[in-house]
Amino acid sequence: MIFNVQLFVILLSNHQTMKLRPIEKSKLGTVDFENLDFGSTFSDHMFVCDYANDSWGEPEIVPYAPLQLDPSASALHYGQAIFEGMKAYKDDKGDVFLFRPDQNIKRLNKSAERLAIPQFPEKLFLEGLHKLIDLERDWVQPGTGNSLYVRPFVFASEPCVQASPAKQYQLLIICTPVSSYYNHSEVRVKIADQFSRAAQGGTGYAKAAGNYAGQFYPTKLAMDEGYQQIIWTDAATHQYIEEAGTMNLFFYIGDKLITAPTSDSILDGVTRKSVIQLAKDRGIEVETRQLTVAELIEAAENKTLREIFGSGTAVVVLPIHGFGYKGKDYDIGTPTDALALTLKTDLTSIQYNLTDDPHGWRVKV
Ligand code: COI
Repeated sequence: MIFNVQLFVILLSNHQTMKLRPIEKSKLGTVDFENLDFGSTFSDHMFVCDYANDSWGEPEIVPYAPLQLDPSASALHYGQAIFEGMKAYKDDKGDVFLFRPDQNIKRLNKSAERLAIPQFPEKLFLEGLHKLIDLERDWVQPGTGNSLYVRPFVFASEPCVQASPAKQYQLLIICTPVSSYYNHSEVRVKIADQFSRAAQGGTGYAKAAGNYAGQFYPTKLAMDEGYQQIIWTDAATHQYIEEAGTMNLFFYIGDKLITAPTSDSILDGVTRKSVIQLAKDRGIEVETRQLTVAELIEAAENKTLREIFGSGTAVVVLPIHGFGYKGKDYDIGTPTDALALTLKTDLTSIQYNLTDDPHGWRVKV
């Protein structure tokens, strides 16, 4: 049998090296980009870096493939795992851009700290990411709405079932071409009055894998009732609106745009802070404050509630057409001149290089 596996060594900054083992044949030709199911098709390569003996080793970019994992790997038992999400976009000249990747590595390390996972060097992350996306640029489809969703994640790989922080980890970056997150034309959400996503002092602000698993069952129940997602409220009283699990939330009431302040139970969304900035750029008054369910219902009843929308990397900016609370449904609708859609256009115009980038968010690959 003849093996013809190429191996390159790439010199990074600080005399660090990275290995590159490219695929022999791309899967690109087999992908139906018109019918993508969010997050279920993966590009040709992935970035991998192992942590052992108190340090991160030499990273590699290798063909996307299943991992070999010991059944006792700590993440499988105790959920010591975190992730990130960002996207790469292509403009009409074929140039590829990432959106605020520096924010993702900062948040990854914030999540790592909370989950007792070792910090990953920022520069190494950004250089490795850049090389990976450069290699996968043909996977970034042009056209607004199309992008390559980039999923960095870290998990405890040490083969050991002791309930304590692991001594071995893997950081990977995988990529999946996507179009939209929801296929529903109208999104309806249920306001939580029983289950909770995150408690004070918990891991809600981190992108901890378990934060998402804990939402699946209540979300399934809400879906059975015809909603797509849950609006989480504070765990102690269920009176204050927090986030929706895969997105932060905005409420356009009167002439103010209201969003909950980030806290130890709310994720510091990159899209959230970008939307706040873009709204301010348009002269819209943004109030970062707690909003009670009672105030929201009052605004819906007295018709001062103009819009609700979510923001997140996967969903971008997503109008919410109605919500349910304790068995009663409230319809909002979305006006054709919705602020949500204006802000979405402002955001995607920057992401797809259709306009200037006054805040320096775009990073060319
Ligand atoms: C993202 O928007 O990147 C998220 O983390 C949502 C994901 C759970 C699909």
